Amino acid sequence: MKALVLSGGSGTRLRPITHTSPKQLVPVANKPVLYYVLEDIARSGITEVGIVVGVGHSADEIQNAVGDGFAFGLRVTYLPQMAPLGLAHAVLIARDYLGDDDFVMYLGDNFVLGGIAEPVRGFRADRPDAHILLTRVPDPTAFGVAELDRHGRVVGLEEKPKQPRSDMALVGVYLFTPAVHEAVRAIEPSWRGELEITHAIQWLIDSGHDVRSTVITGYWKDTGNVPDMLELNRSVLEGIEPRTEGSVDADSQVIGRVRIEADAEVHGSRIVGPAVIGVGAVIRDSYVGPYTSISDNCRIDDTEIEFSIVLRDAHLYGLRRVRDSLIGRSATVTSMPRIPSSNRLVLGDHSEVQISS
Ligand code: TTP
Repeated sequence: MKALVLSGGSGTRLRPITHTSPKQLVPVANKPVLYYVLEDIARSGITEVGIVVGVGHSADEIQNAVGDGFAFGLRVTYLPQMAPLGLAHAVLIARDYLGDDDFVMYLGDNFVLGGIAEPVRGFRADRPDAHILLTRVPDPTAFGVAELDRHGRVVGLEEKPKQPRSDMALVGVYLFTPAVHEAVRAIEPSWRGELEITHAIQWLIDSGHDVRSTVITGYWKDTGNVPDMLELNRSVLEGIEPRTEGSVDADSQVIGRVRIEADAEVHGSRIVGPAVIGVGAVIRDSYVGPYTSISDNCRIDDTEIEFSIVLRDAHLYGLRRVRDSLIGRSATVTSMPRIPSSNRLVLGDHSEVQISS
């Protein structure tokens, strides 16, 4: 059995971060989302992994971050997708790589807390034509939704339905036999111009194939937007092992679950966990509050920040309470003198900023 990890896509909902870096590499508790995916695949006993990447800079970044997969105990092959034409299109272009093997398709920006080892074991034992994972959600209108019959068989799928027939959302992990290849060749692009995997699965159902499902109760997140990314960061930080490898001076206080990585320095500051401070980061005269991940080599000076992710090499100076924020690599945020009161902004395309005034 192989794995197909989807790490292309346009990532429009995470702009401007995705203008310069793929969303699958945004760190959660200072580790890229994609690493959690690859570790989960390795734990399920699969070693052959095809990673679908776009073309250009983002693809290079993914290849630099994952390499040949050896560090994860995997053998990785990269499969370039010329344009993000849909999840089923990714299966189409992976045809030669997948051959006649069964495979798990795993969206590279999804996070499944309980992992996929159990569903993979069940699929290998029963070998239905396809097996999807579902989870109950409060607002199904934002998801692909499955309708099940009395025996738990999947009878229909709908993409972001206005009137959902169930509260069962599709998780971004799908188990397929080679039967799916005929399905992805048979379907037409949707109104948004993409080959939809939900249509391919619906095609399997309509043509009499056996499509089963498992409802997972563990936590699952699709990290395609900022609130979900912050929420996942919160959840993962709650489970980190506290440790201090960097230095904390006598004028600082570190409270709760906090990981301070090698060569990080904390001076005259208060860090309240759960939080991580990355390698070589320097925190001075600041407050870093709960659910915050500060990446490598950041400088945080005279600033209060909480419930946020700061990517590497960013500098924050003289800021009062920053929260619910995702700050990109090498970004600089500083304060203005109080009088005259004004805001000076140099923002990347598609940035979003809220200023308290
Ligand atoms: P999505 O989040 O559905 O799509 P997207 O990445 O284009 O994001 P946005 O809606 O914000 O513009 O994609 C789910 C995962 O699948 C993600 O890891 C990207 C990947 N993907 C591909 O590899 N190829 C594709 O053609 C598409 C649509 C997505």
